[in-house]
Amino acid sequence: MNDQDHLNKKFSIPGIAKIEVGAGGLPRINVTSSLAESHIYLHGAHVTHFATRGQKPLLFLSEKSFFSSDKPIRGGVPICFPWFGPKAGDSTAAMHGFARLLAWEIGGITARPEGTVGVELQLKSSDQTRARWPFDFQATYQINVGKNLELRLRVTNQSTQNVSFEEALHTYLSVGDVKSVAINGLAGRRFIDKVDGAKEKTQTGHITITGETDRVYLDTTDAVTVDDPALSRKLIVRKGSSSSTVVWNPWIAKAKAMADFGDDEWPHMLCIETANVAANAVSLAPGATHEMWAVIEEAK
Ligand code: BG6
Repeated sequence: MNDQDHLNKKFSIPGIAKIEVGAGGLPRINVTSSLAESHIYLHGAHVTHFATRGQKPLLFLSEKSFFSSDKPIRGGVPICFPWFGPKAGDSTAAMHGFARLLAWEIGGITARPEGTVGVELQLKSSDQTRARWPFDFQATYQINVGKNLELRLRVTNQSTQNVSFEEALHTYLSVGDVKSVAINGLAGRRFIDKVDGAKEKTQTGHITITGETDRVYLDTTDAVTVDDPALSRKLIVRKGSSSSTVVWNPWIAKAKAMADFGDDEWPHMLCIETANVAANAVSLAPGATHEMWAVIEEAK
């Protein structure tokens, strides 16, 4: 019995959830319920697709994405953990941490009577993770595929000392035309402008995207809404136990420079990332647990 048969025997739910070979030969969980459909790769615990029944996908996935066990997937919801961006003091470490580069294990798949399907994935510290980050932890990721996409990342410190880490649910929203979207929910907030020498600035009014945008909004716990006139819809990212919000679009030149992103794809995506980074990094006492969550949905 191969790995996939073994996983299906243990976890599949006939007609609702099954493990199949996805792009690049990587295993993925396909969920199809009465409410929604989703694709979830074990590589990086990466949700690459979510759509409610009969509606357009909420997530962007690059046509040029790598699907390889040593590279992150471009699009969907990469998990950044235990650091965000480059690792401080270690230029050889992978950008955004190792969680998006490792194979997570399935903890369980459950179907609820009202149609929501819950998938639980797990990642534990190992020699591989300790080589980069000398702490013991257990991460559990609960993905609820229903009338919205609910994501819960729970981290337990299994070390004997305090541990501090950064995390992000690096959500790539699918938009019709990023040049015409209006992003609400961050007015009056402080942000680090990563495309302007990491200067600290204050947001006036709503955000529009008029060039490369890479901003970390600090101390932000409110929901963010994205008005997308080109697709005639409004997306909402609600969240909990998250104090940072990252807004990212690479625009023209950076899109061209990325090998795993199409030159013309930048107008069709916008990252609104539910995070705890920089001054909002999480500090956990031995044995303590932290759970950050995000809900991504279309406003009705
Ligand atoms: C964003 C960062 O969250 O992710 C950007 O703020 C970065 O600086 C972007 O360019 C994409 O990162 P990566 O590693 O997936 O190319």
